Amino acid sequence: MERTLVILKPGTLQRGLVGEVISRFEKKGLKLVAMKMKQLTPEILDEHYAHLKDKPFFPWLKAGMMAAPVILCCWEGFEAVRTVREMAGATNARKAVPGTIRGDYGMSSQENIVHTSDSPENAKIELDRFFSPGDYCEYPSPLQQYLYAPDEK
Ligand code: TYD
Repeated sequence: MERTLVILKPGTLQRGLVGEVISRFEKKGLKLVAMKMKQLTPEILDEHYAHLKDKPFFPWLKAGMMAAPVILCCWEGFEAVRTVREMAGATNARKAVPGTIRGDYGMSSQENIVHTSDSPENAKIELDRFFSPGDYCEYPSPLQQYLYAPDEK
């Protein structure tokens, strides 16, 4: 099964949307295997957003990500990376299609509710950045047969 990282951004916590956003992933059929609340630091954000360090919005992005704690979640499922990313919608929440998380809850490129990993390779790197092996929980999935066909992967 594939795993992906979702970060519920500080604005999501402050606006009281944590439950709503997590509920969407739960209802979709993804399995929550790790979760924690954390105050992010400049150091970890320099690493996490290294690909954006030369962008003019980088200082504001960092400040926004440190304005309050975030909720870090690892969701598991077949093709979880692509599925979660499509649920999040376009980066600019004003352009994100209604029905997506950003399309339903956001009005901004920066304050866009969630971070989601963009590829299975990056998901592994990002999950290792925020979680230790002991953070992941193993537990049965009794509804598995109602979520997937036996030959799906
Ligand atoms: P990016 O990795 O391009 O998008 P995504 O989050 O959809 O994978 O950008 C990372 C974050 O940088 C994005 O979630 C919000 C911020 N950002 C801005 O503030 N302004 C912008 O114009 C862009 C492209 C991103």
